[in-house]
Amino acid sequence: MSRSLQHQRTLGTTGIEVSAVAMGCWPIAGMTSLDVNRSDSLATLRAAFNTGINFFDTAYCYGIHGESERLIGHAFGKERNQIVIATKGGIHWDSQRVRQFAADPETLRQQCDASLQRLGTDYVDLLYLHAPDPRVPVAESAGALLDLIRAGKTRSVGVSNFSVEQLDAFQAACPITAVQPHYNMLQREIEAEIIPWCQRHQASVIVYWPLMKGLLAGGLARDHVFAPGDGRAKYPMFQGQQWQRNQDLVDDLRRIANAIGKTVAQLVVAWTIAQPGIAVALCGAKRASQILETAEAMEMQLADETLAEIDAALKRRGQAVSRPAL
Ligand SMILES: NC(=O)c1ccc[n+]([C@@H]2O[C@H](COP(=O)([O-])OP(=O)(O)OC[C@H]3O[C@@H](n4cnc5c(N)ncnc54)[C@H](OP(=O)(O)O)[C@@H]3O)[C@@H](O)[C@H]2O)c1
Repeated sequence: MSRSLQHQRTLGTTGIEVSAVAMGCWPIAGMTSLDVNRSDSLATLRAAFNTGINFFDTAYCYGIHGESERLIGHAFGKERNQIVIATKGGIHWDSQRVRQFAADPETLRQQCDASLQRLGTDYVDLLYLHAPDPRVPVAESAGALLDLIRAGKTRSVGVSNFSVEQLDAFQAACPITAVQPHYNMLQREIEAEIIPWCQRHQASVIVYWPLMKGLLAGGLARDHVFAPGDGRAKYPMFQGQQWQRNQDLVDDLRRIANAIGKTVAQLVVAWTIAQPGIAVALCGAKRASQILETAEAMEMQLADETLAEIDAALKRRGQAVSRPAL
């Protein structure tokens, strides 16, 4: 497969080369995505790898029992050194399946060891603090992650769901290689402060929700009824007036994508990884066909005319309601 400039990015200053489209491994945990099963998940991971994706994003809490990490370990045991694994610590599920934040040094150490075991490896390439723990000073969590670099358990450290103030506090105690916020055509808050911070500190911006959980993949019809258990129904983006306006945008994107012989998902991901300061888009998938489709975005160079049409469509859409804080 030919490779364009879009394809490869370097993680911070580490020299670690990653594909600009990474596979987001939350859906295969099967917690909020429906119809997930082990064989489809393994096939999706394999398809991602075969099509040129080398970067896999998971977390301690992706699955009540770490299903996502286990699947990656199972899929790539022998090929460990051909892939780049990012995982995260600092969030877990309690016995009632309620999400808990815990990022004290001892918990982060224990979670890292458990993640390595599930992944079947003795190191990860990137270990994130998943989110700040309100009860633990950010610098304390940072110190623990720096110790994990020194112990050889991770090659680099990143943070997710951080404000600029929290980035400063963390960076003072441990160098940040990557920052993971949410970002997509409808949610662009990070352009104001987070991206400039990362550019100043040579940290890679690795974004989640590029497809806004499938809304911007173009496959959800206007009259789609979310099945019970589909985690998307709770987000304002998928409700009422916001939903209608988002569907108007998707109709515009479909016209633009059709004109260049691509799908909505490909157009959206190609736009995302072409944005200044964005290194990688984490594209979630639970089926091989999905990741094969989005991976093709790495081969696309959007013409100025196409970018202008997208800008016009986004202006017509106007500001979207963003997500509540974690
Ligand atoms: N750091 C954090 O706090 C944080 C938070 C959230 C996510 N993440 C990371 O970011 C990744 C991306 O987020 P996400 O997975 O929630 O959402 P996403 O990538 O925006 O959307 C993924 C969903 O879109 C649909 N989809 C994907 N490709 C498609 C295609 N080609 N055609 C039609 N539908 C398609 C699938 O849903 P359906 O098939 O069910 O419609 C899929 O589960 C996660 O997997 C995870 O690694 C991190």
